[in-house]
Amino acid sequence: MLAASPLRTLAQGFGPAIHVMKDPNCSCCSAWIEILENVGFTVTTEPSAGTLLMRYKLDNGIPQEMVSCHTGRVEGYMIEGHVPVAEIRRLLDERPDAVGLAVPGMPYGSPSMGPESEREAYDVFLVRGGGSTEVFTSYAAA
Ligand code: CU
Ligand code: CU
Repeated sequence: MLAASPLRTLAQGFGPAIHVMKDPNCSCCSAWIEILENVGFTVTTEPSAGTLLMRYKLDNGIPQEMVSCHTGRVEGYMIEGHVPVAEIRRLLDERPDAVGLAVPGMPYGSPSMGPESEREAYDVFLVRGGGSTEVFTSYAAA
């Protein structure tokens, strides 16, 4: 295709490409992906589940205690779980020497996990090489 629509071009200008491994039967991952697509990310997905998906996470530097459902990879960084778009953008802006970001578990009120107005407090962690973690951003309870 030679001519992209202006809207599409605009979206691509803001949206990095992210590849997401997810359980095809898990709907919260799909809802999170939709949020990314709506702000212009180009998302590709690959079905994975159970021990295979767990191995993928661990092999790519996500520590066991940081694990959530889906696992994304964007510009060399791993994105584990329901990480807010703003945090992915900050990561790509700052480009720290790190494995990526993780929101362990599935906190209520994190993106695609229920209304933000009923959000429980949760942290977005920066995962370093070797499995150490530090708080990247704290989200207070709503
Ligand atoms: Cu989930
Ligand atoms: Cu899910």
